[in-house]
This record gives sequence, C-alpha cells and structure tokens, in this order.
Amino acid sequence: MTKEKILIFDTTLRDGEQSAGASMSVEDKVNIASRLNEMKVDIIEAGFPFASKGDFQAVQKISKISKHSIVCGLARAQFKDIDCAGEALSNAKRKRIHTFISTSDLHMKYKLRMKKEEVLESIKKSIKRAQKFTDDIEWSPEDASRTDPDFLYKAIEIAINSGAKTINIPDTVGYAIPKEFGILIKNIKNNVYNIDKAIISVHCHNDLGLAVSNSLSAIIEGARQVECTINGIGERAGNAALEEIVMCLKTRKDKLPYFTDINTKRISLISHLVSTITGFTVQPNKAIVGKNAFAHESGIHQDGMLKNANTYEIMTPESVGLSSSELVLGKHSGRHAFRVKLSDLGYKFNEEKINKLFSKFKDLADKKKQVFEEDIFALVEDEQSVQKKMFIKLIDLSLTCGTGRKSEAKLNLNIFGEKKIIKEKGNGPIDAIFNALKGIIPNEANLIVYQVNAITKGTDAQAEVNVRLEENLMTVQGQGSDVDTMVASAKAYINAMNKLIMKRKKAKESKKTLLQTSDEELDKHVI
Ligand code: KIV
Ligand code: ZN
Repeated sequence: MTKEKILIFDTTLRDGEQSAGASMSVEDKVNIASRLNEMKVDIIEAGFPFASKGDFQAVQKISKISKHSIVCGLARAQFKDIDCAGEALSNAKRKRIHTFISTSDLHMKYKLRMKKEEVLESIKKSIKRAQKFTDDIEWSPEDASRTDPDFLYKAIEIAINSGAKTINIPDTVGYAIPKEFGILIKNIKNNVYNIDKAIISVHCHNDLGLAVSNSLSAIIEGARQVECTINGIGERAGNAALEEIVMCLKTRKDKLPYFTDINTKRISLISHLVSTITGFTVQPNKAIVGKNAFAHESGIHQDGMLKNANTYEIMTPESVGLSSSELVLGKHSGRHAFRVKLSDLGYKFNEEKINKLFSKFKDLADKKKQVFEEDIFALVEDEQSVQKKMFIKLIDLSLTCGTGRKSEAKLNLNIFGEKKIIKEKGNGPIDAIFNALKGIIPNEANLIVYQVNAITKGTDAQAEVNVRLEENLMTVQGQGSDVDTMVASAKAYINAMNKLIMKRKKAKESKKTLLQTSDEELDKHVI
C-alpha cells in the first residue's frame, strides 16, 4: 500500500496564542519555533504580523532561524495586512502568506457588512497582492463549514484561479461533525473544477471536542494538510492537537495509509515547553502528552504490562520521547549521565549551559532522592526563564508561619540592580509573599490565577507554580519550580512581574491591536 504524505501546519504561535491568557513573548515564540523546526513540522504559522509589533518581530525572527519549516504569516484580505506579512517574512528561506476572508452569510452580513460579489472581488485582489511577496499563498474561507456550499465552491475556484496554492477549509466555530466534514471535503473535490491545482488543508476547532476526528475524516476524503497546535491550544476550546493527529496516523497506519515527517520523539519536550510558556497545564488524562497517558494504575493492568507491554499500550512512551524507566537520575549520577539524559530528552546545549544545568541538577538531587524526567524538563525551563531579561531577582526568602498567628515573609531581592529587603505579613505564607511582592513596583495588577502542581510523586516532589496577573486588560503568566512550594510561588510571581514590565514597555511602542479595531475602521481597510 503506497502511503501519502500529510503536511503538518502548526499554528501554536498564531491560533494557539489566541487562547485567552496565553500570550507569549517574542523570545518564547522563537524558542518554540526552533523546536518545531527540529521536530520537522512542514509549515509554522508564526503569527499575524499586522496585529501587533510583537507578532511582526516574532515572524521576522522566526523567518531568520527556520531551516526546515516554511514560515507563514497570517493576513486579512487587506493590503495593509498583506504588505506587513510580506515584509515580516522577507528573510525567510521559504515563506507563505495565509490570507482569509469570511464566506458564511452570517459573517458577511454582520461582521464584514459586505455583499457576496464584494467578497469575491476581495479574494482576487488579496491573493494578487500577496503574489508580490511569494508564490506560496494559502487562502481560507473563514467559517467555511457554515458557508452556503455553492458560494464556497465559487470562492475556492476564484482563489485558485487568482494563484492560491493551498485552500484551507476552517471549521472556525467547531460546529461540524466528522461525517459531515468529510463529505464537505469530498464535495469540494467533486464540485470545484480546478481543485487539483491546490492542496486541500483543514483547520478544525474543538468546541464540541471533535477537532481531531474532523481532521482525520477530512484526510480520508482528500485533505493533505492539517492545521493543528501543540497540546491543542487555541481560540476558545482550542484547535486539533498536533500530537494526537500525528500519533493517530502513526499508530493506526494499518487503516490510515498516510505518513507525516514529524519526529515524534520530540513531542513530550515541546508539549512541556508550550505548557510552561503559556501556563496552560496539560490535563493528566490528555491523550499522548498527559501525565497519565502511559501510567498504569490498576493491579491487573500492571500485571499485564509486566508480562507484555502490548497488553495495555498501543504505542510506546519512547515513541513520544519519554523513557520507559520512570527513574532517571540521582545524587550520585555524574555529568556524563546527565548530559546523555538531556540529549535523550531532545535538548541540544553547549558545554557552558550543560555545566550550569548540572550544578542546578546537583542542588536538586541533594534535596530530592530521585530526579525524574519531568524534574529535568522543569529544571531546564526554570534556567531558561532566569536567562531572560530579569528586572527583579529573588536572592533569598525566609518565612515565619504557623497556627494562631499571621505569617510573615522576608524577601531579599535585587530590583533593577539594587538590593532590597522587604517584609510583609499575610493570611498564610503565600499571602505574605505576594503582599510583599505586590508593592515592589507601582502596579495595578490583579492575581487571577494561582496554581500549584506536583511535578512528580512523593512528598519531596518539586512544586511547579503558575500565576497569572492582569493589569488593564494585559495578562501575563509566570512560572517557577522548586522543591519548596513557597520559593516556587515567589519565583512564579516574580517571573510574571518581569514579564509585566517587559510587556508594558512593548505595549507603549506597539501598534493598535486588532482587538481594538472597530468594525467601522475594519470596513475602511477592506479592499
Ligand atoms: O479558525 C479560523 O477560521 C482561523 C482562520 C484564520 C483560518 O483561524
Ligand atoms: Zn482558527
């Protein structure tokens, strides 16, 4: 049986970032993009350059570093958007412009306030404009699954005649069900006379939990590109999860004669990275990347596993980049074993970085008997966040707390290069720490999320803390890990404050975001 290739188009950095509260810094995006390159993703949608200065810079920087993946920038059907995307992509070895316009009656009437003929005209003009920058043009009819089919066929035909090489069919609101969505793709193949001149792509949202099923159904009917995100993050309930699509095609190749170029051994690492950067923890029972995805709890299952792993495992933990043995390293492990472990987990670091991490690992191993893979992921990410621009640093934390009294936190900090000691009381140690930190710079930030997770099992497990702060509609997320939950909490809050300072600076320079663009203003720009 000859197998056909499915192109993997990752939109973690664009649609994924549209998840409420999941904003990423430019450095975070570049970091994720370099992992996506190593993982052999075919296309990376790196951002929406016209939307903000941050997105523009991210697309620009990712264009420079992407050696394997095609870099794509999103643009509405407006010259300003398209020119901006073209400029941001100018350094890319291989670039794509993805332009879109709504085609459903609902969107055309209420959102665009445009007539069908105007939309068709706009498709032609936008694609022609994008050709100034590249031949690799993707076009999407937004809300395709709720679009009148005859109008959809016509719009696709025009898009292909105008030069679009990929036609992406989005289920924008996650409304479709698998059989129906497969039939839509089949009907497009049968009713659009020039469809053989383009690749059909699909972009499914997960509002009904069907994004992956709908994508697979579309593949069966002829789609050859799938748009997806790491951990399934994205607008509202998210997008189809990359790891689920890829592992499904790999595990069920007996029924699905397709392949992808994805190096699946990179999945766990990138899943962890995206979760840490966005602060969106992965639910334990999440397919492929959840903490329990390869854990066997019941005695009967454990017994079966010991006899033959195939009894309860349809894919191996190694295939997604986890080692089968849970225990990784301990206090007596040497530099060599540590270096090998980093490389097994997919990290490529120079000697200087390995030495830094090794000394952190030794500190951790002194506090914790057994160091697991999850601990190493956390250690690396903690070190990487320290490497970033830090306006505020934690030097030392001490606490007094107990029954029948107020807790007191004493923090020794470095704030903009100056050492300061701050003491504050609170209702419990966390409240005392956060009260102390709240006052160190003028701010109106509210704490909207405080979340603690044990990275591994046992009372000596490292705590991973996530906090989210909101100030004037600007959200930042901070994380910290440590064997001491209080220290991890202080690190997370400080990390969020550092990001807030950075974001305030950028917001000042930044253009108006699309979110702030009124409908009237939007109309003016429509070509
Ligand atoms: O969901 C959607 O329709 C989109 C388009 C921009 C493709 O994200
Ligand atoms: Zn989308």
